[in-house]
Amino acid sequence: MLTGELVRLRPAEPEDAEAFYRWHNDEEVMRWLQSYFHQSLAGLRKLFAERQENSFEKVTLCIETLEERKLIGVVAMREADPINRRAKVDIYIGEREYWGGGYGTDALRRVCRYGFETLQLHSIELTVVEENERAIRSYEKIGFQVDGRLRQAFFRDGKWYDELLMCVLADELS
Ligand SMILES: CC(C)(COP(=O)(O)OP(=O)(O)OC[C@H]1O[C@@H](n2cnc3c(N)ncnc32)[C@H](O)[C@@H]1OP(=O)(O)O)[C@@H](O)C(=O)NCCC(=O)NCCS
Repeated sequence: MLTGELVRLRPAEPEDAEAFYRWHNDEEVMRWLQSYFHQSLAGLRKLFAERQENSFEKVTLCIETLEERKLIGVVAMREADPINRRAKVDIYIGEREYWGGGYGTDALRRVCRYGFETLQLHSIELTVVEENERAIRSYEKIGFQVDGRLRQAFFRDGKWYDELLMCVLADELS
């Protein structure tokens, strides 16, 4: 378990499936996330029950508030490359009332610190749709910088959007 200033990060459990099902069906939450097909609650329950334990290649952690231990989101570090010591990260807060409260930023900072200090990564990267200003601001706050632009990489409701490739190096995390 990892502890930040506002959140606690813990492995996913089968009973978390219900919350994920709710978040996946919330259009506002999924606005800038890749989601093509709606999953059934039964499918999600099965996925969670059969989920592989966390490993160097993929670490998925549920985000809980530190005080009430309320499940509010998820953060995942994936595709860790042991030679170049790079990994990708994804995050979302599914409980909308917690947006803008610093919880996502705290969770991302904590998981990046774990990546750098424990897994000995050198860089961590993510992609974000350019219109997702709140997310970009959150990532910049902890040291992510824009390293590139993926033109028309995200398609939603008949429109193409550019994605920004953002990275943070081990000595840049703030
Ligand atoms: C992106 C996300 C993880 C950020 O976590 P968070 O806890 O909400 O972020 P914070 O509260 O720490 O910071 C948000 C920052 O953006 C700013 N912000 C909020 N709305 C904004 C907007 N519309 N435009 C620009 N900045 C905005 C806030 O003022 C804050 O900056 P500040 O601390 O300098 O004032 C979370 O909002 C989320 O999960 N959103 C929905 C799903 C999503 O977009 N996931 C990311 C996909 S790449």
